[in-house]
Amino acid sequence: MLKVLAFNGSPKMEAGNTQMILGPFLEGMREAGADVELYYTARLNLGPCQGELGCMFRTPGVCFQDDDANRLAEKARAADVIVLASPLYVSGVTGTMKNLMDRLTALMVNPIFAAGGDGRTYHPARAGEKRHRLVLVSSCAMWEVEKFDPVIEQMRAIDRDTEIIEFAGALLRPHADFLRGMLDFRMPCRDVLEAAREAGRQLVRDGGMSDRTLTIVSRRLVPLRLFVRIGNAYTRRKIGHAGKREQAVPAAVDAVDSAGALRARPRRIR
Ligand SMILES: Cc1cc2nc3c(=O)[nH]c(=O)nc-3n(C[C@H](O)[C@H](O)[C@H](O)COP(=O)(O)O)c2cc1C
Repeated sequence: MLKVLAFNGSPKMEAGNTQMILGPFLEGMREAGADVELYYTARLNLGPCQGELGCMFRTPGVCFQDDDANRLAEKARAADVIVLASPLYVSGVTGTMKNLMDRLTALMVNPIFAAGGDGRTYHPARAGEKRHRLVLVSSCAMWEVEKFDPVIEQMRAIDRDTEIIEFAGALLRPHADFLRGMLDFRMPCRDVLEAAREAGRQLVRDGGMSDRTLTIVSRRLVPLRLFVRIGNAYTRRKIGHAGKREQAVPAAVDAVDSAGALRARPRRIR
């Protein structure tokens, strides 16, 4: 049975936007027969990596810190798929998620260096070592899916630098608060959740997720102009400036919006 180990790095955990996508994705994997385990980084006892590298040399694969890392690394070594789910924080993952990534990488990666023909260096797999497919799930506040480019690039770098990890793709949900609002008001957007579930089924059943399905997960829910207006109206109400004049939205956003509609075609993100 395919083993999936998932982590959600949001401090909001079950109640957060990231979980709106992660939940159905994991459910789809379970439906397709996978054994899925989920941890919230906020509930883990996990100190930051101290960088003394004892886990690589003195006691290979074992950290001297008496917390959850050794137990989780054991689970990660046995996993076929590792899911890292995190809200976008300052264009990256949350601090607790980065902490987990540092700790697990130090414990799992073979410290030997290898050089590829293209001049790139990487950590090769040990003989007979299991490879793991890595999936990113992320949500963010802003409108455009390109906001995830830095974190996608980080996942690609992990794939290039560590032979045991293969980046299998990402479920990305921009303007995630609009998804929550639309679900609350029963507006048509359940296709996004269904696509997340389908991506989970595909990964287990077919060994990969289709670009078409992933594009639906990220699809535009509101035009840019409306995003700015509604977003600001909400923010003003929250900070007690209700009734103040709306900030003008430049006419150019309509052009960007149509370009956004063009961009909504399937994008390869592996
Ligand atoms: C400290 C902090 C930094 C953030 N940085 C970004 C960002 O760089 N880009 C963005 O679009 N949203 C950003 N956000 C918004 C979150 O990514 C967004 O609300 C996300 O959906 C929250 O997910 P959660 O409810 O699962 O925690 C940030 C939020 C916080 C609290």
